[in-house]
Amino acid sequence: MEKINVITSFTAYNSAEELPKEVNELMKKAVEARKKAYAPYSKFRVGAALELENGEVVIGSNQENAAYPSGLCAERVAVFHAGAVHPGVTIRRIAISAASDEKTVTAPIPPCGACRQSIAEYEQKQDSPIEIYFMGETGKVLQSDSLKNLLPLVFDSHYL
Ligand code: THU
Repeated sequence: MEKINVITSFTAYNSAEELPKEVNELMKKAVEARKKAYAPYSKFRVGAALELENGEVVIGSNQENAAYPSGLCAERVAVFHAGAVHPGVTIRRIAISAASDEKTVTAPIPPCGACRQSIAEYEQKQDSPIEIYFMGETGKVLQSDSLKNLLPLVFDSHYL
């Protein structure tokens, strides 16, 4: 028997203003995307902005549905949007911002498990890490150099 420890690592910025300039610009695009979310049920709006290696920025926002599970998170809308419009182009980084119509969200909001799994597929496919930055409406921004920090022991196509 042996114990296996998995260590993951994040950088915390006190606010979006502390981010490197180009990342702060990307976060602003996530905020703009968030404002276009369709979230009449949860009133929780999420925006994601992806920067591609060719300099293009692709956005996504959560799209809800009266049949709740038919809706989709912002992060998956964004990565599928990138996959559809710019197939094969490497994703460099993702910025995510979340806000609620009902309260001020100050905690950094990480992507849900299903979004982590979807982002992992793209990281594996492009064979290079995707940097992730996530925040609420205000407050700290957390950064990871790779999706792997958010999803240790990922299931991927190597197992198939
Ligand atoms: N949501 C996202 O867009 N991304 C996440 O990673 C977490 C949750 C959305 C889904 C739903 O529309 C709302 O936030 C509340 O769960």
